[in-house]
Amino acid sequence: MTRAPHTPPGPPVVGNVPRFADDPLRFLVGVQEAYGGQYPVVRLEPAGGQRIVVVLDAALVHEILADRERFVRPRVGPEASRREGLLSSRGPLWERQRSVIQPELVGGQLAAYADIAARSVEEMLDRWPENGEIDLVAELSMLTMQVIARSLLGRDATREQARTVYEALDTFAEEFEFGADALLLPDALQSGPSAAFERADADLEAVARDFVDWHREHEDPPDSMLTALIEAERDGVELSEDELIDQTVLFLTAGQETTALTIAYAFHHLSRSPDVRAGVTEEATGVLDGAAPSWEHLSGFDLTERVVRETLRLTPAAWNVTREVRGPTTLGGTRFETDDLVLLPTYAHQREDRVWGDGDAFRPARWTDEVSRSHDSYFPFGSGPRVCIGRQVALTEAQFTLAHTLQQYEVDVHGDELAFEPAITLRPADGLRATVTERE
Ligand code: HEM
Repeated sequence: MTRAPHTPPGPPVVGNVPRFADDPLRFLVGVQEAYGGQYPVVRLEPAGGQRIVVVLDAALVHEILADRERFVRPRVGPEASRREGLLSSRGPLWERQRSVIQPELVGGQLAAYADIAARSVEEMLDRWPENGEIDLVAELSMLTMQVIARSLLGRDATREQARTVYEALDTFAEEFEFGADALLLPDALQSGPSAAFERADADLEAVARDFVDWHREHEDPPDSMLTALIEAERDGVELSEDELIDQTVLFLTAGQETTALTIAYAFHHLSRSPDVRAGVTEEATGVLDGAAPSWEHLSGFDLTERVVRETLRLTPAAWNVTREVRGPTTLGGTRFETDDLVLLPTYAHQREDRVWGDGDAFRPARWTDEVSRSHDSYFPFGSGPRVCIGRQVALTEAQFTLAHTLQQYEVDVHGDELAFEPAITLRPADGLRATVTERE
């Protein structure tokens, strides 16, 4: 039986989109709790903008993400600019880009990236005070940027370049407030990118161009994703100069902030759960025995791995995945209309009490259970053909950073409750500061 999406009640005329735009996380969690298990999807009533559909059924989430022809990734925030990196490209361009990039991010390369991650963590810890306060998100953003630069772009980023990327992402987050006029106003009435956005985009492009030029001028460039892309070009896979730049911008941005936030949130959760933190510290000391982590250590990190999984469940850096409908289509018994904006709210699915039992609680132990491990309601890296290409890199980096840091430092993240600023990523509203104390 085919049915139209259910529309939850809301104030008349403008419908429930303003409530959504006002506090999207709270709204989506509320909708999931109220209607999940009862309706596969619900429809919001916007005032003038695009029709919005929220998918509540977890199996349907995966069906939608499997169908990249009829459900395409809309361009949001900075992607709305002209860039055509892997995240925003579609059709044959996407296929070509993914086929060149994928081998760089799986298999053999991962061990080399793990070494790079370990060395970069060591350098970060060398900079930390013996006892003092740090801006945790800024520190980790510099770290993840350096790992991306060294592993995918073939050489170090300067402090200046790392700062440029960090600040550009800050500007993008301010520009892209999820909700507000993007959802309420028809396209024609929405303002274009601000001058600050254009400047940040140009700064990012300059950093990317520097990496690309350096590779081109180098007789024997190091093994890196950029080298692979340039060589693919020589082998007849056409990649224009602009594509190379766009791809570089994408990797500088997509892999940096998401991973940094995930590690920062893990430290936050551990600071609220001293027993778990003691367990992770003990595991790190036992497995590493004072050494820097390497690929071989990874299988020894059990609790650390569960902590990262649980962090990605409770505080998913990519808190919402979106798709746009290309042509009327029926899936899971629901009819979707052309141009519907489809929300697949990771954050709400991953906290749903009915599914997880005490969904708001940080409980890494839940991941010892095989049922949790294969759960449809868990998709922090997306799913289907466009699943995150950097997830192995991110998972390794997060585990290494937690283990290596806790072996050497006590980390106490300030503040009790997290307040979020959901933009493109799930950012903490007031940043995250921590007191770090070197162990004897
Ligand atoms: C914890 C860290 C990370 C999280 C939570 C995350 C999350 C995601 C999600 C949810 C998607 C799917 C988006 C969609 O389907 O609309 C995605 C795609 C993507 N991610 Fe990640 N990501 C992370 C780290 C990374 C890293 C380290 C890299 C690069 C090395 C990266 C590069 C990409 C790219 C290029 C895509 C687009 C893939 C495609 O469309 O074919 N991500 N990521």
